[in-house]
Amino acid sequence: MFDAAKFVEEQIADIRKKITGPAIIACSGGVDSTVAAVIVAKAVPQYLTAVFVDTGYMRKNEPEQVRELLTSCGVKVDFVDARQEYYDALKGVTDPERKRKIIGEKFIRIFEREAKKTGATFLVQGTIAPDWIESGGGVRDTIKSHHNVGGLPKDMKFTLVEPLYDLYKDEVRKVARYLNIPVAERQPFPGPGLAIRVLGDPTPERTAIVREACHIVEEEIDAAVKAGKMARPWQYFAALLPVRSVGVHGDIRHYGETVVVRAVDSLDAMTAQAIHIPYEVLDKISIRITNELGQHVTRVVYDLSGKPPGTIEWE
Ligand code: XMP
Repeated sequence: MFDAAKFVEEQIADIRKKITGPAIIACSGGVDSTVAAVIVAKAVPQYLTAVFVDTGYMRKNEPEQVRELLTSCGVKVDFVDARQEYYDALKGVTDPERKRKIIGEKFIRIFEREAKKTGATFLVQGTIAPDWIESGGGVRDTIKSHHNVGGLPKDMKFTLVEPLYDLYKDEVRKVARYLNIPVAERQPFPGPGLAIRVLGDPTPERTAIVREACHIVEEEIDAAVKAGKMARPWQYFAALLPVRSVGVHGDIRHYGETVVVRAVDSLDAMTAQAIHIPYEVLDKISIRITNELGQHVTRVVYDLSGKPPGTIEWE
Protein backbone atom coordinates (compact mmCIF):
# COMPACT_ATOMS: atom_id res chain seq x y z
CA MET A 1 0.00 0.00 0.00
CA PHE A 2 1.33 3.42 -0.95
CA ASP A 3 1.77 5.63 2.10
CA ALA A 4 1.62 9.31 1.08
CA ALA A 5 2.73 10.61 4.49
CA LYS A 6 5.80 8.40 4.54
CA PHE A 7 6.60 9.28 0.93
CA VAL A 8 6.49 13.03 1.64
CA GLU A 9 8.60 12.67 4.78
CA GLU A 10 11.27 10.65 2.95
CA GLN A 11 11.34 13.01 -0.01
CA ILE A 12 11.76 16.07 2.19
CA ALA A 13 14.75 14.47 3.91
CA ASP A 14 16.22 13.43 0.58
CA ILE A 15 15.69 16.83 -1.07
CA ARG A 16 17.37 18.60 1.84
CA LYS A 17 20.47 16.54 1.16
CA LYS A 18 20.34 17.03 -2.62
CA ILE A 19 19.39 20.69 -3.11
CA THR A 20 22.06 22.98 -1.74
CA GLY A 21 21.50 26.13 -3.82
CA PRO A 22 18.98 27.97 -6.04
CA ALA A 23 16.51 25.66 -7.75
CA ILE A 24 13.86 26.25 -10.37
CA ILE A 25 10.74 24.49 -11.59
CA ALA A 26 8.40 25.26 -14.47
CA CYS A 27 4.91 25.12 -13.04
CA SER A 28 1.73 25.52 -15.06
CA GLY A 29 -0.62 24.39 -12.32
CA GLY A 30 -0.80 20.79 -13.52
CA VAL A 31 -0.94 18.04 -10.91
CA ASP A 32 2.60 16.68 -11.29
CA SER A 33 4.55 19.94 -11.38
CA THR A 34 2.46 21.45 -8.59
CA VAL A 35 2.97 18.49 -6.26
CA ALA A 36 6.70 18.43 -7.04
CA ALA A 37 6.96 22.18 -6.35
CA VAL A 38 5.12 21.95 -3.05
CA ILE A 39 7.24 19.06 -1.75
CA VAL A 40 10.46 20.84 -2.67
CA ALA A 41 9.22 24.11 -1.16
CA LYS A 42 8.47 22.25 2.07
CA ALA A 43 12.01 20.92 2.11
CA VAL A 44 14.01 23.95 0.94
CA PRO A 45 11.73 27.01 0.73
CA GLN A 46 14.74 29.33 0.66
CA TYR A 47 15.99 27.84 -2.63
CA LEU A 48 13.00 27.11 -4.86
CA THR A 49 11.48 29.42 -7.47
CA ALA A 50 8.52 28.24 -9.54
CA VAL A 51 8.29 29.87 -12.96
CA PHE A 52 4.73 30.34 -14.15
CA VAL A 53 4.32 31.66 -17.68
CA ASP A 54 1.00 33.21 -18.64
CA THR A 55 0.94 32.39 -22.33
CA GLY A 56 -2.40 34.07 -22.97
CA TYR A 57 -3.83 30.65 -23.74
CA MET A 58 -4.78 29.62 -20.22
CA ARG A 59 -8.30 28.92 -19.01
CA LYS A 60 -10.49 31.56 -17.39
CA ASN A 61 -8.96 32.82 -14.10
CA GLU A 62 -6.29 30.13 -14.29
CA PRO A 63 -3.19 32.36 -14.02
CA GLU A 64 -4.48 34.01 -10.84
CA GLN A 65 -5.61 30.68 -9.38
CA VAL A 66 -2.30 28.96 -10.00
CA ARG A 67 -0.37 31.87 -8.58
CA GLU A 68 -2.54 31.93 -5.44
CA LEU A 69 -2.39 28.18 -5.02
CA LEU A 70 1.40 28.04 -5.23
CA THR A 71 1.84 31.04 -2.98
CA SER A 72 -0.55 29.61 -0.39
CA CYS A 73 1.45 26.36 -0.44
CA GLY A 74 4.63 28.28 0.39
CA VAL A 75 6.12 28.26 -3.12
CA LYS A 76 7.90 31.40 -4.34
CA VAL A 77 6.45 32.23 -7.76
CA ASP A 78 8.09 34.04 -10.64
CA PHE A 79 4.99 35.08 -12.61
CA VAL A 80 5.79 35.93 -16.22
CA ASP A 81 3.16 37.75 -18.25
CA ALA A 82 4.11 36.64 -21.76
CA ARG A 83 0.67 37.02 -23.34
CA GLN A 84 1.61 39.60 -25.94
CA GLU A 85 4.80 37.76 -26.79
CA TYR A 86 2.80 34.59 -27.54
CA TYR A 87 0.07 36.39 -29.47
CA ASP A 88 2.71 38.06 -31.64
CA ALA A 89 4.53 34.77 -32.25
CA LEU A 90 1.32 32.96 -33.23
CA LYS A 91 -0.16 35.71 -35.38
CA GLY A 92 -1.52 34.12 -38.54
CA VAL A 93 -0.31 30.64 -37.59
CA THR A 94 -3.00 28.10 -38.42
CA ASP A 95 -1.12 24.78 -38.65
CA PRO A 96 -1.52 22.83 -35.36
CA GLU A 97 1.98 21.40 -35.34
CA ARG A 98 3.53 24.82 -36.04
CA LYS A 99 1.50 26.23 -33.16
CA ARG A 100 2.87 23.53 -30.84
CA LYS A 101 6.43 24.10 -32.03
CA ILE A 102 6.29 27.87 -31.61
CA ILE A 103 4.67 27.58 -28.17
CA GLY A 104 7.24 25.00 -27.02
CA GLU A 105 10.21 27.00 -28.26
CA LYS A 106 8.96 30.23 -26.79
CA PHE A 107 8.48 28.54 -23.45
CA ILE A 108 12.07 27.34 -23.46
CA ARG A 109 13.43 30.79 -24.27
CA ILE A 110 11.39 32.38 -21.48
CA PHE A 111 12.29 29.66 -18.99
CA GLU A 112 15.96 30.02 -19.86
CA ARG A 113 15.78 33.78 -19.32
CA GLU A 114 14.11 33.34 -15.92
CA ALA A 115 16.47 30.55 -14.85
CA LYS A 116 19.46 32.79 -15.54
CA LYS A 117 17.96 35.49 -13.34
CA THR A 118 17.72 33.14 -10.36
CA GLY A 119 21.16 31.61 -10.94
CA ALA A 120 19.58 28.20 -10.44
CA THR A 121 21.75 25.15 -10.77
CA PHE A 122 19.07 22.67 -9.70
CA LEU A 123 16.13 21.88 -11.94
CA VAL A 124 13.08 20.29 -10.35
CA GLN A 125 10.73 18.39 -12.59
CA GLY A 126 7.41 16.67 -12.01
CA THR A 127 8.45 13.60 -14.00
CA ILE A 128 6.41 10.53 -13.00
CA ALA A 129 6.98 6.85 -13.74
CA PRO A 130 4.96 6.58 -16.99
CA ASP A 131 6.95 9.51 -18.44
CA TRP A 132 10.23 7.61 -18.37
CA ILE A 133 8.80 4.13 -18.81
CA GLU A 134 7.12 5.29 -22.03
CA SER A 135 10.23 6.91 -23.36
CA GLY A 136 12.19 3.73 -22.75
CA GLY A 137 14.42 5.27 -20.05
CA GLY A 138 15.57 3.61 -16.87
CA VAL A 139 19.14 4.40 -16.05
CA ARG A 140 19.75 8.11 -16.27
CA ASP A 141 22.52 10.55 -15.46
CA THR A 142 21.79 12.84 -12.57
CA ILE A 143 23.47 15.78 -14.29
CA LYS A 144 22.13 16.57 -17.72
CA SER A 145 20.59 19.35 -19.70
CA HIS A 146 16.88 19.70 -19.42
CA HIS A 147 15.24 18.05 -22.38
CA ASN A 148 11.77 17.37 -21.08
CA VAL A 149 10.75 20.83 -22.21
CA GLY A 150 12.20 20.18 -25.64
CA GLY A 151 15.89 21.03 -25.58
CA LEU A 152 17.30 23.84 -23.53
CA PRO A 153 20.62 25.12 -24.90
CA LYS A 154 23.39 22.58 -24.43
CA ASP A 155 25.41 24.89 -22.21
CA MET A 156 22.70 25.00 -19.55
CA LYS A 157 23.57 22.24 -17.14
CA PHE A 158 21.33 21.52 -14.23
CA THR A 159 21.32 18.95 -11.52
CA LEU A 160 17.98 17.31 -12.05
CA VAL A 161 15.74 16.61 -9.07
CA GLU A 162 12.61 14.56 -9.72
CA PRO A 163 10.80 13.79 -6.46
CA LEU A 164 7.89 11.95 -8.14
CA TYR A 165 10.10 9.79 -10.36
CA ASP A 166 8.80 6.44 -9.08
CA LEU A 167 5.14 7.35 -8.71
CA TYR A 168 2.13 6.55 -10.84
CA LYS A 169 -0.57 9.13 -11.45
CA ASP A 170 -2.97 7.78 -8.80
CA GLU A 171 -0.16 7.95 -6.24
CA VAL A 172 0.60 11.55 -7.18
CA ARG A 173 -3.08 12.32 -6.65
CA LYS A 174 -2.89 10.67 -3.22
CA VAL A 175 0.08 12.85 -2.33
CA ALA A 176 -1.84 15.93 -3.55
CA ARG A 177 -4.79 15.01 -1.33
CA TYR A 178 -2.51 14.34 1.63
CA LEU A 179 -0.89 17.77 1.18
CA ASN A 180 -4.29 19.45 0.66
CA ILE A 181 -3.35 20.67 -2.80
CA PRO A 182 -6.63 21.09 -4.66
CA VAL A 183 -5.37 19.88 -8.02
CA ALA A 184 -5.99 16.17 -7.50
CA GLU A 185 -9.29 16.06 -9.37
CA ARG A 186 -8.46 18.45 -12.22
CA GLN A 187 -9.10 17.34 -15.76
CA PRO A 188 -6.17 17.18 -18.19
CA PHE A 189 -5.32 20.37 -20.08
CA PRO A 190 -2.95 20.40 -23.05
CA GLY A 191 0.41 22.18 -22.77
CA PRO A 192 -0.27 24.48 -25.76
CA GLY A 193 -3.49 25.51 -24.03
CA LEU A 194 -6.37 27.21 -25.79
CA ALA A 195 -4.23 27.91 -28.87
CA ILE A 196 -5.11 24.41 -30.10
CA ARG A 197 -8.79 24.91 -29.27
CA VAL A 198 -9.01 27.84 -31.65
CA LEU A 199 -8.94 26.21 -35.07
CA GLY A 200 -7.26 28.59 -37.44
CA ASP A 201 -5.62 31.83 -36.32
CA PRO A 202 -5.47 31.92 -32.47
CA THR A 203 -5.95 35.68 -32.14
CA PRO A 204 -6.57 37.15 -28.68
CA GLU A 205 -10.17 37.89 -29.71
CA ARG A 206 -10.95 34.34 -30.86
CA THR A 207 -9.12 32.94 -27.82
CA ALA A 208 -11.34 35.03 -25.55
CA ILE A 209 -14.40 33.39 -27.16
CA VAL A 210 -13.14 29.86 -26.61
CA ARG A 211 -11.97 30.68 -23.08
CA GLU A 212 -15.49 31.73 -22.17
CA ALA A 213 -17.06 28.76 -23.99
CA CYS A 214 -14.74 26.32 -22.15
CA HIS A 215 -15.69 27.99 -18.88
CA ILE A 216 -19.40 27.59 -19.60
CA VAL A 217 -18.95 23.90 -20.50
CA GLU A 218 -16.99 23.31 -17.29
CA GLU A 219 -19.49 25.17 -15.13
CA GLU A 220 -22.54 23.42 -16.53
CA ILE A 221 -21.02 19.93 -16.46
CA ASP A 222 -19.63 20.45 -12.95
CA ALA A 223 -23.09 21.58 -11.81
CA ALA A 224 -24.75 18.56 -13.45
CA VAL A 225 -22.22 16.24 -11.78
CA LYS A 226 -22.85 17.88 -8.43
CA ALA A 227 -26.60 17.50 -8.89
CA GLY A 228 -26.15 13.78 -9.62
CA LYS A 229 -27.34 14.09 -13.23
CA MET A 230 -24.20 12.56 -14.73
CA ALA A 231 -20.78 11.17 -13.88
CA ARG A 232 -17.79 13.47 -14.31
CA PRO A 233 -16.32 12.97 -17.79
CA TRP A 234 -12.59 12.41 -18.10
CA GLN A 235 -12.21 15.61 -20.12
CA TYR A 236 -14.73 18.26 -21.23
CA PHE A 237 -14.26 21.52 -23.07
CA ALA A 238 -15.19 23.63 -26.10
CA ALA A 239 -13.32 24.46 -29.29
CA LEU A 240 -13.88 27.23 -31.82
CA LEU A 241 -14.23 25.97 -35.37
CA PRO A 242 -13.02 27.78 -38.49
CA VAL A 243 -16.55 27.66 -39.85
CA ARG A 244 -18.98 30.51 -40.13
CA SER A 245 -22.63 29.96 -40.66
CA VAL A 246 -25.72 32.03 -41.17
CA GLY A 247 -27.70 32.89 -38.09
CA VAL A 248 -30.31 35.45 -37.19
CA HIS A 249 -30.41 38.07 -34.44
CA GLY A 250 -33.89 39.51 -34.13
CA ASP A 251 -34.59 40.01 -37.81
CA ILE A 252 -30.99 40.69 -38.77
CA ARG A 253 -28.76 38.20 -40.54
CA HIS A 254 -25.71 37.27 -38.46
CA TYR A 255 -22.82 35.40 -40.06
CA GLY A 256 -21.32 33.96 -36.86
CA GLU A 257 -18.82 31.53 -35.41
CA THR A 258 -19.33 27.87 -34.46
CA VAL A 259 -18.46 26.32 -31.10
CA VAL A 260 -18.10 22.57 -30.70
CA VAL A 261 -18.58 20.94 -27.30
CA ARG A 262 -16.50 17.85 -26.50
CA ALA A 263 -16.83 15.54 -23.48
CA VAL A 264 -15.08 12.18 -23.37
CA ASP A 265 -14.32 9.28 -21.13
CA SER A 266 -10.94 7.66 -21.30
CA LEU A 267 -8.48 5.68 -19.22
CA ASP A 268 -5.19 6.86 -20.61
CA ALA A 269 -6.06 9.27 -23.47
CA MET A 270 -4.97 6.64 -26.02
CA THR A 271 -8.60 5.86 -26.79
CA ALA A 272 -11.71 7.77 -25.78
CA GLN A 273 -15.48 7.69 -26.11
CA ALA A 274 -17.79 10.67 -26.48
CA ILE A 275 -20.14 10.50 -23.51
CA HIS A 276 -23.90 10.75 -23.31
CA ILE A 277 -24.66 14.12 -21.78
CA PRO A 278 -28.27 14.53 -20.56
CA TYR A 279 -30.07 16.60 -23.17
CA GLU A 280 -31.10 19.28 -20.68
CA VAL A 281 -27.43 19.85 -19.82
CA LEU A 282 -26.45 20.15 -23.49
CA ASP A 283 -29.37 22.49 -24.01
CA LYS A 284 -28.28 24.73 -21.14
CA ILE A 285 -24.70 24.81 -22.45
CA SER A 286 -25.91 25.78 -25.93
CA ILE A 287 -28.25 28.48 -24.65
CA ARG A 288 -25.59 30.00 -22.40
CA ILE A 289 -22.95 30.02 -25.13
CA THR A 290 -25.24 31.68 -27.67
CA ASN A 291 -26.57 34.15 -25.09
CA GLU A 292 -23.30 35.09 -23.43
CA LEU A 293 -21.24 35.03 -26.63
CA GLY A 294 -24.13 36.01 -28.89
CA GLN A 295 -22.30 38.76 -30.73
CA HIS A 296 -19.81 36.14 -32.01
CA VAL A 297 -21.33 32.66 -31.88
CA THR A 298 -24.44 31.61 -33.76
CA ARG A 299 -24.13 27.84 -33.59
CA VAL A 300 -23.20 25.19 -31.02
CA VAL A 301 -22.62 21.55 -31.98
CA TYR A 302 -21.76 18.41 -29.99
CA ASP A 303 -18.94 16.13 -31.13
CA LEU A 304 -20.00 12.46 -31.06
CA SER A 305 -16.74 11.00 -32.39
CA GLY A 306 -14.68 8.48 -30.50
CA LYS A 307 -10.89 8.23 -30.52
CA PRO A 308 -10.12 6.65 -32.91
CA PRO A 309 -10.91 7.93 -35.43
CA GLY A 310 -11.07 11.42 -33.87
CA THR A 311 -8.55 12.66 -31.34
CA ILE A 312 -9.66 14.24 -28.09
CA GLU A 313 -8.58 17.75 -29.08
CA TRP A 314 -9.54 19.06 -32.51
CA GLU A 315 -5.96 20.02 -33.35
P1 XMP B 1 -5.45 13.88 -28.31
O1 XMP B 1 -6.04 15.15 -28.83
O2 XMP B 1 -4.14 13.54 -28.92
O3 XMP B 1 -5.14 14.20 -26.79
O4 XMP B 1 -6.41 12.71 -28.34
C1 XMP B 1 -4.83 13.25 -25.81
C2 XMP B 1 -4.64 13.99 -24.50
O5 XMP B 1 -3.49 14.80 -24.58
C3 XMP B 1 -3.83 16.18 -24.49
N1 XMP B 1 -3.05 16.86 -25.54
C4 XMP B 1 -1.89 17.47 -25.30
N2 XMP B 1 -1.20 17.62 -24.16
N3 XMP B 1 0.45 18.82 -25.35
C5 XMP B 1 -0.04 18.32 -24.19
O6 XMP B 1 0.59 18.50 -23.14
C6 XMP B 1 -0.17 18.71 -26.53
O7 XMP B 1 0.30 19.17 -27.56
C7 XMP B 1 -1.41 17.98 -26.50
N4 XMP B 1 -2.31 17.65 -27.46
C8 XMP B 1 -3.30 16.97 -26.84
C9 XMP B 1 -5.32 16.25 -24.70
O8 XMP B 1 -5.90 17.37 -24.04
C10 XMP B 1 -5.78 14.93 -24.14
O9 XMP B 1 -5.89 14.96 -22.74
